[in-house]
Amino acid sequence: MTFSFLPELLISMFVLLVVVVGSYYIKSSKNPLPAVDWPVAGILPSLVYNLHRLHDYIAFDLLAPSGHSLKFAIVNIRFFMTCEPANIQHIFTSNHANYPKGEEFAEIFDVMRGSIFTVDGESCRRQRANYQGVLSSPRLVGLMTRCCRDKVEKGLLPFITHMARTNSPVDMADLMTRLVFDLYASIIFGVDPARLSLDMPPVHVANAMDTVMEVGLTRHIVPAFCWKVMRRLNIGPERKLAAAQAVLRCFTTDMIMERRKNGHTIVAQEEPVDVLSSYINDPDYNGDLLHPTLITYMIAGRDTIGTTLPWIFYNLAKNPHVVSSIRDELAPIMSRKAAIANASAAMMILEPEEVKALVYLQATLLESLRLYPPVPIERKSVVAADVMPTGHEVCALDIVLISLYSVGRMEAVWGADCQEYRPERWLSQDGRKLRFVPSHKFMAFNSGPRLCLGKDIAIIQIKTIVAAVVWNFDVKMLDDRAIDTKLSCLLQMKDGLKLKLNKREM
Ligand code: HEM
Repeated sequence: MTFSFLPELLISMFVLLVVVVGSYYIKSSKNPLPAVDWPVAGILPSLVYNLHRLHDYIAFDLLAPSGHSLKFAIVNIRFFMTCEPANIQHIFTSNHANYPKGEEFAEIFDVMRGSIFTVDGESCRRQRANYQGVLSSPRLVGLMTRCCRDKVEKGLLPFITHMARTNSPVDMADLMTRLVFDLYASIIFGVDPARLSLDMPPVHVANAMDTVMEVGLTRHIVPAFCWKVMRRLNIGPERKLAAAQAVLRCFTTDMIMERRKNGHTIVAQEEPVDVLSSYINDPDYNGDLLHPTLITYMIAGRDTIGTTLPWIFYNLAKNPHVVSSIRDELAPIMSRKAAIANASAAMMILEPEEVKALVYLQATLLESLRLYPPVPIERKSVVAADVMPTGHEVCALDIVLISLYSVGRMEAVWGADCQEYRPERWLSQDGRKLRFVPSHKFMAFNSGPRLCLGKDIAIIQIKTIVAAVVWNFDVKMLDDRAIDTKLSCLLQMKDGLKLKLNKREM
């Protein structure tokens, strides 16, 4: 056995000691010092102390008091953190070549290594063109919308009806995780794992995806040599991550082997095809890139939509007047459908084509994404020294953190009522159109040349799901508990979202 990692281990232990002692000191103090810059450990101890409210700490304790941009160091690593739109436009668009994701980002998400999520430059450009082709193909778009509609009709609505009939509360966070996992497995692999069913089967693969994002956050916060030592020793969160990565690889291997054995049952040329069909015979994606690509598709769709939906239902349950406005918008379409089908007592579902024009419904979704972006922080590295529009200087190898959560809560951008859930802010004066907000001010789908490639389809799917639930059921919170968030790269709810859903009297 070689002991070449011993110096790194000692430094890691020192950093951990500083963190633990610093946190203990702050916790036991009657007036904990805000955002203290400690020797060596920098703001790490106060960051650790505030982890339970990480995004509010960043928005209101770090960024707001410092004019929305801040430089700090942890050990010998320099950070620049910002939520200032002018800086965001500079980093993501005007000078984006100077701010790649970087090698360390690829190491943090090593289970997706080589895929679009972790690469920059030419490799990214090539993959983006490929993903764009796949995601805009009419056959795949047809499959994505049809799967969503069918899953709502055959899975979601019967499940909620049962829960309403038996007077049982619903954990909406868990339910949405199951729904979106089934949906994206169907879209990517052509297989519905049926995790959304009354017997609530285990969700090992979805849990493994959550672990990747939870340990991903630890890897972002802790100096790289610390987590690398833990990975080498297979201890702590790294042990959990290794097990999760194995579950994910096993899942994609099974799906690929199944397809290679049985082929795909395409009956007609116009029949929709899943994502796997586009990659399984592509020489560019075979070898090392096929697994990371498939895992990336699962994470891109399942993690984002599955994280967004519970926040929308949380906001709707807290704002019954918004639910009434959505129903007013849905009413003319629903009564037309009911007249044609002569089925006013049945569950009503909108077709994907019908949800597109619903602007108020879309405003409720955008407003939820503003306050609760599923990806709350973006990370970039610095290639060469540069000066931000705010005058802050950054040097090569600095880490740049962009708080999407904070941009959505800036008074200067969104006005004095920026903390309120108010979909109307997204509408034109006559309420018929959506206002345009540039992506450097509304960053939920990222900004610049790396803008999300699934935005349009995600919006249709989310609107289909929300419209079906809101039209057919009344949604109430079970209690007034504040919602805590998980320690994760995603803004997921920590203890779920308990709601009571009742069949709506019409
Ligand atoms: C509410 C839904 C969604 C939100 C809020 C969202 C948000 C984002 C964000 C913030 C990024 C940048 C991530 C990063 O580079 O760190 C991103 C990238 C991406 N998204 Fe989405 N996304 C959503 C749904 C989807 C869906 C359904 C798909 C497709 C199945 C998708 C495909 C992608 C792809 C391929 C990228 C990588 C683009 C690149 O790196 O150049 N997204 N998305």
